[in-house]
Amino acid sequence: MSLPIEPYLSLPNNECAERILAAKATLGKQLVILGHHYQRQEVFQYADFTGDSLKLSRQAAQSEAHYIVFCGVHFMAEVADILSRDEQIAILPDVTAGCSMADMANLSNVTRVWRELAELLEVETQITPVTYINSAANLKAFCGEHGGIVCTSSNARKVLEWSFAQRDKVLFFPDQHLGRNTGYRMGIPLDQMVLWDFSKPMGGLTVQQIQQAKIILWSGFCGVHQVFQPQDVDNFRKQYPNGQVIAHPECSFEVCQKSDAVGSTEFIIKTVQDSPPGTRWLVGTELNLVQRLARDMLPDHKFVHYMSPYECMCSTMYRIDPQHLCWTLENLVAGHIVNAIRVAEREKVLAKQALQAMLAIV
Ligand code: 13P
Ligand code: SF4
Repeated sequence: MSLPIEPYLSLPNNECAERILAAKATLGKQLVILGHHYQRQEVFQYADFTGDSLKLSRQAAQSEAHYIVFCGVHFMAEVADILSRDEQIAILPDVTAGCSMADMANLSNVTRVWRELAELLEVETQITPVTYINSAANLKAFCGEHGGIVCTSSNARKVLEWSFAQRDKVLFFPDQHLGRNTGYRMGIPLDQMVLWDFSKPMGGLTVQQIQQAKIILWSGFCGVHQVFQPQDVDNFRKQYPNGQVIAHPECSFEVCQKSDAVGSTEFIIKTVQDSPPGTRWLVGTELNLVQRLARDMLPDHKFVHYMSPYECMCSTMYRIDPQHLCWTLENLVAGHIVNAIRVAEREKVLAKQALQAMLAIV
């Protein structure tokens, strides 16, 4: 029987630290811990590899370890399960660590939209379905089944270019902001990127709007990135006229338009790291990343500010704590697998097609 979680919940972090390090040493090469940039420092410090969702999915695909413990959110562990070999096991230390944006699209409403669009268009030859990696495995499988593809925030442009080389239009879900910000940078006018309101028949759009659209955007969003406002950028620029602004593409169109650079978490970190000493940055992404970057950059005399006066972290990422990590690893040492994330076989095959299509182009 696996070790119960309850006694772990009250363990102080310093005791977890000793026990996590001991379990890591015992498991050795059988184990790899992957940590997303939004993880809190108390967890991030134990990761063998850190990165954005693209880098970590590549890492999961290449890993030799038997156990892939993902300190991230549910869809990331699903991707690790899909891309790893059959005998490898992807584990999420707390299975309730989901992604609220990923939950904004599901197979039944995406299938319904596809059916409605099929009343008007030859969907299989005219529309490429593109899902952001922040989505459930069955939506990646939907894309695999319908000639579509997955994207991440760091490769969305290349993925959209590939998609338009296949078919005229894209159905992009679940994040409207990543779709719109990327499409606009590719030169697609705003009126050719329509927002589908799935509470209304035909998304509340006219036949003409759908026929003229290049990208049909799902109305999903990330609440963590909607906290940033255009006036936050204006206030910073007033105070620091030489400062620079960098934002994640999940931020609103207005915030991205006002930013000097837009890109994934990995891109943000690299851009700030590569900037000359004395540079001051306003950063629009999750709080844990920004706080860590601010601390790491200070010795190099680079100054990093969080974009909002209101602190807003990804509360689901935050569910992965040292206590759950300690419980997960000690169970592995005791020969018990807890919180394995297993994608159903048929979904896995189709989702892998859509993920591999992405990995083949970027
Ligand atoms: P990255 O692709 O930058 O890792 O972003 C993932 C994410 O969930 C951002 O909210
Ligand atoms: Fe999902 Fe937003 Fe959290 Fe990223 S920050 S994992 S998009 S809820």
